[in-house]
Amino acid sequence: MDSIQDKLKNMISVERYNHSIGVQETAIKLADRYGANSNKASIAGLVHDCAKGLNHDEMLKAAKKYGIEVNDVTKSQPGLLHGPVGSCMARELFSINDEEVLHAIWYHTTGCRDMSLLDKIIYIADYIEPSRDFKGVDKLRAAAFQDIDRAVLLALDNTIKFVIEKNQLLDLLTIEARNFMLVNH
Ligand SMILES: [Fe+2]
Ligand SMILES: [Fe+2]
Repeated sequence: MDSIQDKLKNMISVERYNHSIGVQETAIKLADRYGANSNKASIAGLVHDCAKGLNHDEMLKAAKKYGIEVNDVTKSQPGLLHGPVGSCMARELFSINDEEVLHAIWYHTTGCRDMSLLDKIIYIADYIEPSRDFKGVDKLRAAAFQDIDRAVLLALDNTIKFVIEKNQLLDLLTIEARNFMLVNH
C-alpha cells in the first residue's frame, strides 16, 4: 500500500508538496510548544492542501459529491473550498478519521469561530512555514511561538486586508474567526 506521502505527491505539485512538508514540520514544532498532540499536528499539516490540485470545476463537483454547502462566496471563488474538500478527501483517500484533524484541515484557509488549538496550529503553520515570504512574515513567525492567539489574530487581519486590497469577496467564516478572537483572546 502506498504511503500517504506517495499518494499526496501524485495529487499536488512539487512546490505544493514541499510547502506541505514545511507546514507539517512547523505544525509539529508549534504542537510541542503549546502542548498539543504532535501526531495530529503532523498528519493535518502534511495533508491540509491535498485538494489544492483540483481546478475550479473539479472543486465544485467534489463539493457537490461530498455534500459541502456552496454559497455565493465559494461559488465565485471555488479555491476557498480546498479546505472542506480536502478534509473529505483526507477521510476518503487517506482513511483519516480523527475529527480534530479533519476539522483543522476543513478550516485551514478561512479560520472559523472558536478555533481549537489544533485549528490554530495548522492555520498559523500554513502561514509561516519556511518557504513563505511576505511582508511581516518574520513578525508573525516570532508571534506564533510567543502567543498563538495573537499570531492567529494578526494573520486573520492580514488576510482580511489582503482580500480587500485585491477586491475579492470575504468569506464570512474569516470575519467570525476574527470577531471571536478579538472578544475572547
Ligand atoms: Fe491551503
Ligand atoms: Fe497550505
